[in-house]
Amino acid sequence: MKTFALEPIETASRDELQALQLSRMRASLQHAYDKVPHYKKKFDTHGVHPGDLKVLADLAKFPMTTKADLRETYPFGMFAVPMDQVVRVHASSGTTGKPTVVGYTRNDIDMWADVMARSIRAAGAQPGDKLHVSYGYGLFTGGLGAHYGGERLGLTVIPFGGGQTERQVQLMQDFKPDIIMVTPSYMLAIADEMEKQGIDPRTSSLRIGIFGAEPWTPELRLEIEHRIALDAIDIYGLSEVIGPGVAQECIETKDGLTVWEDHFYPEIVDPETGAVLPDGEFGELVFTSLTKEALPIVRYRTRDLTRLLPGTARTMRRIQKITGRSDDMLIIRGVNLFPSQVEELILKQPKLAPHYQIEVTRPDKLDEITVLVEPKQELAGMSEAERAVEANHLVHAIKTFVGVSARVSVLPLGSIERSLGKARRVVDKRPK
Ligand code: DLL
Repeated sequence: MKTFALEPIETASRDELQALQLSRMRASLQHAYDKVPHYKKKFDTHGVHPGDLKVLADLAKFPMTTKADLRETYPFGMFAVPMDQVVRVHASSGTTGKPTVVGYTRNDIDMWADVMARSIRAAGAQPGDKLHVSYGYGLFTGGLGAHYGGERLGLTVIPFGGGQTERQVQLMQDFKPDIIMVTPSYMLAIADEMEKQGIDPRTSSLRIGIFGAEPWTPELRLEIEHRIALDAIDIYGLSEVIGPGVAQECIETKDGLTVWEDHFYPEIVDPETGAVLPDGEFGELVFTSLTKEALPIVRYRTRDLTRLLPGTARTMRRIQKITGRSDDMLIIRGVNLFPSQVEELILKQPKLAPHYQIEVTRPDKLDEITVLVEPKQELAGMSEAERAVEANHLVHAIKTFVGVSARVSVLPLGSIERSLGKARRVVDKRPK
């Protein structure tokens, strides 16, 4: 079997990696300070200067960056290079207010293609593979990120994008891609469509699925791997840091995602106090870019909750699979609830499909949740009475395992909105 070779840095010693990180971090902080007035002001107010970074841990002295900083300087105020060097912008929609806009120089696009190629290789790509991209193309970073990475690696890229599910399936039957890159929720919609067309998803040509852009549980991995007979591998990233390809799970271990630490420096902080936590402890993931030109990002608070773990398949550190964001957390009568907990319980019910939404209402003073879910496709004919029985099972499971009283409606097949990209898991119907 032909394989792609690793880059030397992927297996370099920790010492070698840390020396590289330190020199790159110094240069990057200086670049941000010199070229972005917003950073200069923040550093000055904080009483720190790029020269204060003597060791990597000194990064903790620097102020953190949030989405609010990008909004305040909307659209291009955080760019560190003149516009004639910015070859592309992307934007993330966000749920409220203005989008966050990010920019790339030619070198940034190059670096991104490199880390994406590295990611696709780590997921198990082999020379000669065909890669079907169903992440959306456009302002979202998923489609073009995957596309450039696939081409950089030398694969045959099929740039389908999101939507037109029926045609996606037909084309996949004809082109026989080996790898698909798509959100896990849209993968499920594609699998449903295959079944609708009388195709057993297990017989498809797909060998590997590279899934990300939204939280998905280990239970969903097992479900997808069983249903489609492929290796389901996790990919993580965010626009503010580069796009997809910040961290990638390796197929040989499937034990969390290796952070490409030579370009993106991770920290875990206490979400309340912002204090840096030691490796192994759970908290909020924070990233500092080490090589970015157009948009150097210093200690960006991702809101994603996870922990840092030592390297396994690579010497670089891993993050544990991310199953929640701090702003996705619902507090229902004092109990914290992440949508992923509901997903996990739905997947334990033999008759329910992992298409779900959580509606939050406030009929009186207290928040209430209703979980909307559907039966599995092959049980489409389920009567209302049978659906009520299934709903009761899930009510009971949520009460027992999460400690929250929820309402559950098992709706007829197809009632719940299908995403073509990121699934909307929480529908907030509380009065504003
Ligand atoms: O979602 C980039 C991306 C595209 C990643 C394709 C992977 C694949 P944004 O739209 O800026 O960028 O959203 C970033 O999505 O902070 C996480 O909350 C969430 N997210 C991304 N990947 C994962 C993952 C892209 N593997 C936000 N697991 C992040 C859980 C993820 N959440």
